[in-house]
Amino acid sequence: MKVRAAICTGLYQPWTAEDIEIDEPHAHEVKVKMVYAGMCHSDEHLRTGDISAPRETLEIFGVDSMFPCIGGHEGAGIVESVGPEVQTVTAGDRVAVAFIPACGQCYWCASGRQYLCDLGMSTLAGPMISDGTWRHHFGDQHLNRMTQLGTFSEYMVVNEASLVKIAPDANLKAAALISCGISTGFGSAVDRAKVVPGEVVVVVGAGGVGSGAIQGARLAGARAIIAVDPLDSKVERAKKIGATHGVSNMLDATFLVAELTEGRMADVVILTPGVLTGDMIAPACAMGSKDARIVATAIAPFAQDKIELNLFNLSMFNQSILGTVFGSVSPRVQIPRLLKLYDAGMLEIDELVTNEYTIETVQQGYDDLEAGINIRGVVAF
Ligand SMILES: NC(=O)c1ccc[n+]([C@@H]2O[C@H](COP(=O)([O-])OP(=O)(O)OC[C@H]3O[C@@H](n4cnc5c(N)ncnc54)[C@H](O)[C@@H]3O)[C@@H](O)[C@H]2O)c1
Ligand SMILES: [Zn+2]
Ligand SMILES: [Zn+2]
Repeated sequence: MKVRAAICTGLYQPWTAEDIEIDEPHAHEVKVKMVYAGMCHSDEHLRTGDISAPRETLEIFGVDSMFPCIGGHEGAGIVESVGPEVQTVTAGDRVAVAFIPACGQCYWCASGRQYLCDLGMSTLAGPMISDGTWRHHFGDQHLNRMTQLGTFSEYMVVNEASLVKIAPDANLKAAALISCGISTGFGSAVDRAKVVPGEVVVVVGAGGVGSGAIQGARLAGARAIIAVDPLDSKVERAKKIGATHGVSNMLDATFLVAELTEGRMADVVILTPGVLTGDMIAPACAMGSKDARIVATAIAPFAQDKIELNLFNLSMFNQSILGTVFGSVSPRVQIPRLLKLYDAGMLEIDELVTNEYTIETVQQGYDDLEAGINIRGVVAF
């Protein structure tokens, strides 16, 4: 079947709308009609090469590059049809996507950590999880898909492990944003940092993921939430969804936190800037109290292996630096849970959708993100 999709054909190439060909689903695969796709910063990391499967992994899958690639890993839609042996969804079901597939069987899934599923090793490398062949084609080339998804496409064929069934009346626009950015930020605060009532939380970077972290901290009972972002518009929006204070940089945040805590400093610092760099760790730790939890949520360039850190203080202050993928919660738990909070009016999402785009204008959406115009753009199909 011929469909329109936004693809990237090489490093730093723009997202362009193209006619592509998709095959019918094979065993364990599902064809989804997309309704909304969110525009997360991670797709930009793909275009700029920050996230790239290592060459050895690409070789295993018989490809030498991530490109051409269908973009998009936030989204929600309706199941159009299912291949043989699919057990978890059926035609007509509403689904959100999960950028880490969950098999339910591996050591990590079986121990309740589906966000660490071993199928995650295939997410950046290309062909279908089920049998290592390809369902998406651009002319005579096979198409890679961002994290085994490729939500910037009218229809997509994915493994059922990459889908989360949601309620028949679930709001699909909210589900699209919750499917990555909001869940990741929310989980960074609630599930990874384990914020408790009365704590002081700093969120560095008030974009889509940061907006989830701010709201997670609010619902967990933080008494002060400091949003840090160089863009005034982001700080103002952050204050509407739960930030109690806002500043433009980490140094100002450090002085503010000292004032708010009589010098005890922040219990939790969550790092959600567009790109994480090694020089952000020392200032984050300096903002933290004794026993502080520092959560590294944002993605750094693939080869980033040096950070600045005072090791003496790290041990003597008993601090923890924590990584997180998807906010360290199983997508099949987190996405339905946050949709219920949205339905109950406790999680603000509508406020975060700043602009809607089409498949033809995906690059415009990313230009608007870069220009600071968007908290989240969504592709509406
Ligand atoms: N760990 C995961 O599983 C996971 C999941 C989703 C996204 N991410 C990553 O999280 C990061 C945030 O994603 P997003 O979609 O919210 O991006 P975004 O572009 O929407 O937001 C990033 C924000 O950071 C701000 N910023 C930039 N430099 C800053 C600095 N030095 N100090 C403070 N703020 C700064 C920007 O103004 C922007 O508002 C990205 O790196 C993304 O790839 C990680
Ligand atoms: Zn994302
Ligand atoms: Zn698994």
